[in-house]
Order: sequence, then structure tokens, then C-alpha cells
Amino acid sequence: MYRKREYLTTPMFGKSIKLMLLGSGELGKEIAIEAQRLGVEVIAVDRYDWAPAMHVAHRRYVIDMLNPNAVKAVVDREKPDVIVPEIEAVSYEALEELESRGYFVVPNAKAVRIAMNRIELRRFAAEVVGLPTTRYAFAESPDEAVEACDKVGYPCLIKPEMSSSGHGHVKVEEPNPRVVKEAYQYAVTHARGRSKRVIVEEFVQLETEFTILAYRYVGENGIVTGACEPVEHWRYGKYHYIESWQPSTKPQHILEKAREIGIKIANALGGLGIFGVEVFLTKDGRVLFSEVAPRPHDTGMVTMASQDLSEFAIHVRAILGLPVPKPRVLTPAASIAIYTDKDNVWAPKIKGVYEALNIDGVDIRIFGKPFTYRERRMAVVLARGKSIEEALEKARKASSYIIIE
Ligand SMILES: Nc1ncnc2c1ncn2[C@@H]1O[C@H](COP(=O)(O)OP(=O)(O)OP(=O)(O)O)[C@@H](O)[C@H]1O
Ligand SMILES: [Mg+2]
Repeated sequence: MYRKREYLTTPMFGKSIKLMLLGSGELGKEIAIEAQRLGVEVIAVDRYDWAPAMHVAHRRYVIDMLNPNAVKAVVDREKPDVIVPEIEAVSYEALEELESRGYFVVPNAKAVRIAMNRIELRRFAAEVVGLPTTRYAFAESPDEAVEACDKVGYPCLIKPEMSSSGHGHVKVEEPNPRVVKEAYQYAVTHARGRSKRVIVEEFVQLETEFTILAYRYVGENGIVTGACEPVEHWRYGKYHYIESWQPSTKPQHILEKAREIGIKIANALGGLGIFGVEVFLTKDGRVLFSEVAPRPHDTGMVTMASQDLSEFAIHVRAILGLPVPKPRVLTPAASIAIYTDKDNVWAPKIKGVYEALNIDGVDIRIFGKPFTYRERRMAVVLARGKSIEEALEKARKASSYIIIE
């Protein structure tokens, strides 16, 4: 079904290989750049104009990606060889129909559907694949939420079935039905779409968090699955800000467990490409599957500094049917995402870059987003060092200079 690619082509002429991004954010931009390096014709699609990947694509389209007809129309017009959903908010109906008509959706339409829905994903991961997770229960009314929280125990976390970047998550500290019902209402009103369903999860004390970048590619004798050295990351406060580093400083037996979880879920979801698998290490020593994005992961941007093949290069090779010999960590590195607290500034200036780049081993990626909103991620600082401590210190120093105005 998945074939080795025998040749690449010249973009913009005749029968070129075409890659279409559904979602053109900063991750899509790096995917586009890697595809461009291999002479692939790149088409960037998003819901607003001049999204990051559009700046490095051959063509661009602005559509409502939750509208199945709009997605199908743009795909049928371009007839891409590879369709790469870059965000969760893409019409699943459209992807499924396109796949049934012979289009290649990365990694496959079913995996996209499962991963975009917390309830489906939790059932699949815990009950089908058998991965260890936090305790959980589901609810679709205020009364069921009370029952679910009582079952899971306190503190617990209520999350809408569909949302991203922590939207609609509420922590419930103690068994108080009024508070639980309010929390439930908050979760469902901050969900993507109109679903009334939520997942209630045991709130665990985190020791650290990993992203396992697992990948599947076409080997000489069938699909090969692998996993990069675990990326470790930490967030301060609710969004601000994510520090990532690679390699992890945790003991090997824990990293092995985390990698095994990553490989198992990638194989269960199937298809080709990279999977950003989020894994918790709890203070009481449990290694738990949290969730998976069947695409490159924001915390994996550190691989642009640490590895010989970044997560984007791996993804592009894998989805094109090219080999991915084991990626190597060349140097300890860290990354820090730069957020803005400014609302609706058009064509923002990024200041402090001279001072940041004056630090040896530091690099920056400016996403090129045309306007800001509060908590929007605008850039990432990358830093290499002799050790993780040094890399993190440089990344912190560099990011402290950066101001978005
Ligand atoms: N059950 C839990 N116990 C403790 N902390 C949790 C739990 N679930 C989530 N978190 C924290 O909240 C973060 C975001 O959770 P999750 O990945 O489920 O949300 P998300 O909406 O997918 O966010 P993102 O897009 O940032 O990954 C986790 O990375 C972790 O730090
Ligand atoms: Mg997450």
C-alpha cells in the first residue's frame, strides 16, 4: 500500500509531486521548507491570509477548513499527492471522503479523527492499545460530571472532548457539586464545536513531561517504526512558556518506557509520518500516555537545533516514501517559545534580536504571523550548549531580550 519513492520531481512543471498543507502555521512552515528542499511543490491552506507556511509555498488558499465542501474543492482543484493536516480543526468528513477516493491523507483519516477527539483517543489508547494513562471518566451533562469527578477522585481536570492549547480545561479541587457543574459548563462552552461531552482526568503531580517523536516510514521490507531520543519539556503557568530540551536528563529505564508508549500508539494509528506523543512522568514514578498529535509537535522544534534530521525533515521524508535512518542527537539543545501579550497588533516588530543572536549557539525562527493576539506564539529561540543546563541558560537569556511590539 505504501510505496518506496523511486524519484523526486521538478516543482511547477507538469507531473510534479505536490504536498498540500491543511493548516499553515509555524509547524507547517518548517514542513514546507523541508519539502521545498526536496523539490516538492507546496500548496499552503489556512483560514487567514499570509499564515506562516504561505510565505514559503508555491501557492496559497484561504478557506474555512471546517467546511467539508471548501476542503474538497481545494483538494480537487490541486490534486495533491500528499495531504498534510497541520492542525486539528480540519473537516474530518472531508478527509475521510478524500481518502476513500484515493488521496493520501497523512498519516490516515482514521488516525486524524481519533487524535482530534480526547474521548475517542483515550478509549483507543487505554482500552484498545492498553497504554497506561491517568484515571478517567466521561460525562455529557452536569449531573454526569459530578458522578465522573467522584469516580476519578480529587483534584481532577475537566477537559472538553475537542479543544487544543488547554482551552476549556478546568481543575476541580474538591467534591462540591455546584463547583463541578460550573466547571463542566465552562469546559463545554470553551470547546471547539457544539459537543456537550467532556473527559474527567485524575490530576497528577508531574515530575516532567516528554514528547516522544515516533515515526513510520517505508523501509526496504515494509514499514519501519522508530522513535527519536525523548524531548523533555516544562510549562510555567498555563501557557507561558514552554521550554524544551533534548536529550532528556531522566534515567534510561524511564525513557525506554516513554519510547515504548510512543512506538505503540504510532503503530496502532498507522500510516506514515511523525507522531508527537505526549507522555507524563508523575512524581510517584508512573510513565503515562497523555495524548498524541499525528504530526510534528511544537515542543519538538528543539530538534531543529539538536538533531541531524529535524522532526520536520523526518516527517517530510516519511510521508514521501523516503527512508529515515535513525536520527542522531548531535548536541544538547533547548528551545523556548516566544509568546505575545499584545492584542491585534498588525505587522509587529520583533526587538532584541541583535542581543539574542549575539549569544554563541543561539538561533531564532520568526514565524511571520501578520498580526498578534494575546497568548499567540510568534517565534522560537533555539540554543545549543555543551550540556542541557548551558543550552537552557542560553535560551532563557536570549528569549529575555526578545520583545514583540
Ligand atoms: N491529568 C493531568 N494532570 C496534571 N496535569 C495535566 C493533566 N492533563 C494535562 N495536564 C497539563 O496540561 C497540559 C495540557 O494538557 P493537554 O495536552 O491535555 O491539553 P491540550 O489542549 O492538548 O494542550 P496542548 O495543545 O498545549 O498540548 C499538559 O501538557 C500538562 O502539563
Ligand atoms: Mg497536549
